[in-house]
Amino acid sequence: MDARGILPVEVRFYSDGDRQEVENFHCAQRRWEKEAQGVIRRAPSLLVEEGVELLVATADGEVVGVTVFLAIPGLCFIYSIGVLTSQWNRGVGTRLKKAVMVEAKERSPQGCMFLSFVHKMNGRMNSINRNLNAETRISPDDGNYFFTYISVKLEDEV
Ligand SMILES: CC(C)(COP(=O)(O)OP(=O)(O)OC[C@H]1O[C@@H](n2cnc3c(N)ncnc32)[C@H](O)[C@@H]1OP(=O)(O)O)[C@@H](O)C(=O)NCCC(=O)NCCS
Repeated sequence: MDARGILPVEVRFYSDGDRQEVENFHCAQRRWEKEAQGVIRRAPSLLVEEGVELLVATADGEVVGVTVFLAIPGLCFIYSIGVLTSQWNRGVGTRLKKAVMVEAKERSPQGCMFLSFVHKMNGRMNSINRNLNAETRISPDDGNYFFTYISVKLEDEV
């Protein structure tokens, strides 16, 4: 964490009023971060697609973080997590990933497997996954990406 410490945020489901902020969300500097940003920016117009959901983290009414995921009983695929570049390293990304895990776990009485693809150079996202004890493999489709999975059983604390 930087000297500013943890940013207190409220995490809630996306609503129509967030659309403009999410479609203009700025969370990227590097190429692989821009891919994650693109997923977030396109997400409001994809919400009609079955099952895709968004959580937003807000601070003082501003959207500072967004995650896009699909959760079915037993399985959750996290398509993207993004935090405003101005708020990186203040715990918001970790908070959002844990919020998705709590949400999906509640729908999965037998436990849940969390899946995501992360570029191998994406230090922050890989740190978050490491802190959550994620298992990591090189993606079979693209050697620049890690395929990460976290298995959470009913009795596990998130
Ligand atoms: C990845 C991202 C969501 C992380 O959000 P964040 O709010 O900065 O994350 P957190 O503050 O919760 O955690 C960041 C962790 O990375 C660590 N970190 C910071 N810089 C790092 C670096 N260069 N290399 C490795 N780890 C780093 C921090 O110390 C922290 O770990 P800690 O809790 O053990 O101290 C954010 O950087 C982002 O939006 N990136 C662009 C979009 C993206 O790439 N998303 C992921 C792919 S879907």
